[in-house]
Amino acid sequence: MSEEQKKSDNRPRPTTEAFRAFVRDGWAPRPDARPERAEVALYAAARRDAVSAAYPGERLVIPAGGLKVRSNDCDYTFRPHSAFAHLSGFRADCEPDTVLVMHPRPEAEGGGHESVIYTRPLAGRDTEEFFADARYGEFWVGARPTLEDIEAEFGLAARHIDELPDALAKDVGVTVLRVVRDADRDVAATVDQVRAEAGVSGAAQDEALAHDEALAAFLSHLRMVKDEWEIDQMRAAVDATQVGFEAVIADLRGAVERGRGERWVEGLFGLHARHQGNGTGYDSICAAGDHANTLHWIKNTGEVRAGDMILLDAGVEVDSLFTADITRTLPVDGTFTDAQREIYDAVYAAQQAGMDAIKPGAKFSDIHAAAIRVIAEHLHGWGLLPEGVSVDDTLDTETGQYHRRWMVHGTSHHLGIDVHDCALATREEYMDAELRPGMILTVEPGLYFKSDDELAPERFRGQGVRIEDDVLVTETGYENLSAGMPRTSTEVEAWIAEVQAR
Ligand code: GLY
Ligand code: MN
Ligand code: MN
Repeated sequence: MSEEQKKSDNRPRPTTEAFRAFVRDGWAPRPDARPERAEVALYAAARRDAVSAAYPGERLVIPAGGLKVRSNDCDYTFRPHSAFAHLSGFRADCEPDTVLVMHPRPEAEGGGHESVIYTRPLAGRDTEEFFADARYGEFWVGARPTLEDIEAEFGLAARHIDELPDALAKDVGVTVLRVVRDADRDVAATVDQVRAEAGVSGAAQDEALAHDEALAAFLSHLRMVKDEWEIDQMRAAVDATQVGFEAVIADLRGAVERGRGERWVEGLFGLHARHQGNGTGYDSICAAGDHANTLHWIKNTGEVRAGDMILLDAGVEVDSLFTADITRTLPVDGTFTDAQREIYDAVYAAQQAGMDAIKPGAKFSDIHAAAIRVIAEHLHGWGLLPEGVSVDDTLDTETGQYHRRWMVHGTSHHLGIDVHDCALATREEYMDAELRPGMILTVEPGLYFKSDDELAPERFRGQGVRIEDDVLVTETGYENLSAGMPRTSTEVEAWIAEVQAR
């Protein structure tokens, strides 16, 4: 219970011994059956093997994190930390406060690591928690798995969370201890205490913090090439996202007629995201008309008007926590105006150029370079760059960049268990790295003409377009995982007509 919650606990419920005894008994026995081994378990074990090889002899602590207070005694829905989920295989239904510890095994015992899950297991019916604990109790939030359930499902040893502090303190000072700090402040504080008790201070403490950061960066980079199970999850996320987009398309008229249409669109997509998977992988951007020019428009308070376009940037996060990240810019009444099509087709050409740059051995940054050249060519063709500035001039990163007035963001990012996956990887590992089969990336150029942009042609003002697809790097090039969702202006119009006629 947080301090804030303790202060506001003005509704104590006295219990008598007789009541406790009454609540404890009279329940059917717990089922004996254990869950089946999850398919992900083998893949998660291989990921841990890679970590083990990189950190021989070290103790590694990867927390899932805890509940975060939203307000007073209400918490946000729990989502485990991505590094934890990746290495354990745990899903959205993971219990808060769970921690994965990789204990180094002595060389004499074969070396490597023993991976152990520390968690708060299902409490007995004879405990106060069973009926009285609103945050963790079975009466309130449901039954947690037992340690045996976890071992059966994930093939990981499981122990009570109360054993964690001693487990972390073991051999400290002899064995290097690293923790993913941002996953759980309480666990990081326990590690700090263990280090302090072992006399780690000053430069040694700074070095320990640097070790922690290096582990988090390593685990982020580890997710860059997806295994076949992860690729399947991404396919499922993309398919679920298409369901959500088509539900929005089917009711575009409703969004116009009801008023506050952006919220209607957000709700429709969210309904399907929650129904198909765990929910949305990030706050949906439902941006009609001029709102499309606010890159992260998530207020979604606006009207959806006939004649406008609506930019919908949304993705379903499936139960394994992998998320799609797809954008379509749709003409609200089914047909682009000439000016809208002009912008749209320019963005489409840029996106296709970005996709065409994707093949093993190409650099990640080649995707943006290819797409932004096409954007710059169109802006130049429309006469929007300053007098005398050529396409090559504006593309010069030292002296140009005028085109960024109309597309300030990058074209691509890695995608997976996080929408901006692998974000802690270094520049060499990310921007400057070569593409490799198994990487999953977005390709998402855009053009944004604000309604008050006096440099933009009048016909473009108040309109923004982004097209975003999720692409798998293959041995020979790429596969557009979201190819099931039409992209060209003509195909988008046909798609809207087809979905609305269903
Ligand atoms: N939806 C956020 C992004 O496209 O990166
Ligand atoms: Mn994106
Ligand atoms: Mn997006």
